[in-house]
Amino acid sequence: MEKKDPMPLWPVYTGTKEPHDGIGLLPPPPPWRAFDGGPELPTPADTDDASATSPDRTHRAATYQATDRTVQLVNAALYLRRPLLVTGPPGTGKSSLAYAVARELRLGPVLRWNITSRSTLHDGLYQYDPLSRLYAARQEAATRDPDAPAAPAAPAPASGIEDHLRLGPLGTALLPYGRPRALLIDEIDKSDLDLPNDLLNVLEEGQYEIPELVRAARHTPVAEVMVDGTHDRVPVTRGRVRCRAFPFVVLTSNGEREFPPAFLRRCVTLRLRQPDDRHLAGIVRAHLGEPDAYAQSLITRFLSRAGHGDLATDQLLNAIYLSRSADLGAESLDELAEQLMPYLGEAPQADAF
Ligand SMILES: Nc1ncnc2c1ncn2[C@@H]1O[C@H](COP(=O)(O)OP(=O)(O)OP(=O)(O)O)[C@@H](O)[C@H]1O
Ligand SMILES: [Mg+2]
Repeated sequence: MEKKDPMPLWPVYTGTKEPHDGIGLLPPPPPWRAFDGGPELPTPADTDDASATSPDRTHRAATYQATDRTVQLVNAALYLRRPLLVTGPPGTGKSSLAYAVARELRLGPVLRWNITSRSTLHDGLYQYDPLSRLYAARQEAATRDPDAPAAPAAPAPASGIEDHLRLGPLGTALLPYGRPRALLIDEIDKSDLDLPNDLLNVLEEGQYEIPELVRAARHTPVAEVMVDGTHDRVPVTRGRVRCRAFPFVVLTSNGEREFPPAFLRRCVTLRLRQPDDRHLAGIVRAHLGEPDAYAQSLITRFLSRAGHGDLATDQLLNAIYLSRSADLGAESLDELAEQLMPYLGEAPQADAF
């Protein structure tokens, strides 16, 4: 008897860079990762228009060369509804991956949260500015009755709270969208020690509460709140947000940081390495066209130097770009290439340039 393919739709993400609607064919989640938030929201429109997003991000998404292993683990994260933790040396394409997947699977604009040592879970979920709300309430009272006392009581619980509350990238990604949003939590290794564990809980539950809206729910059961990155507003009922399609979450780390086992267990982990010569040639082709003999020699030089210290792929791309565009003699080009590909761990040379 012919063996039946258990997953005829695998893979949803192909790495071919051709946008498609395969995400609609994703099998149902495992029972322990099923979410039922609602009412369902439509995914914001995708755009390839570089003026609407950043040209850098649009370019990265359209040129990303995924390895088979990357394709496999992106699909594992999508099927399992788990975050993808991407580790690896600088410039190996950790951040770009989120843009590439979002573009191919038409997941809409990527929600990006850049982590610093001061980032807290609260920043990622929402920002609320009670002072601006108080100020607006005073202004309104003064306009209505110029003779009213200058300092009225605090605004009524329901008055205009949603005008001063904006969901952050994580808070927006967990809205009940019908297809997963792409969320890039960039450089999680820079966070303080508590953030990975705090994040873990929210990503495990796929939901969170906004206490300010829960308190105001008696007066305003449905608040129209602002979301990350656009002027759109979405309804939040009784201050509770629960996802529907679990977002495609990419967490990046340069790999120097150890994460708690409880955190690692709940992520799919992809370790990126320095690309080999075939992969590098593919990356150069995607960004700058077919590598000529000189570009090929720079690739070889990059690979031999990469064995001795950290180099990033974009250093090679810069060197090849200059070799094609700058009108320089061969000798100074070689020198320039060396200077554009210094080891990343080294202090810059005082006489460089
Ligand atoms: N696989 C790839 N395919 C195409 N371009 C790539 C690939 N990997 C890296 N690049 C290019 O190299 C540059 C660096 O990529 P990116 O910023 O995603 O790396 P990173 O791993 O996030 O680096 P960092 O650790 O510094 O944040 C980008 O210009 C990107 O387009
Ligand atoms: Mg990065």
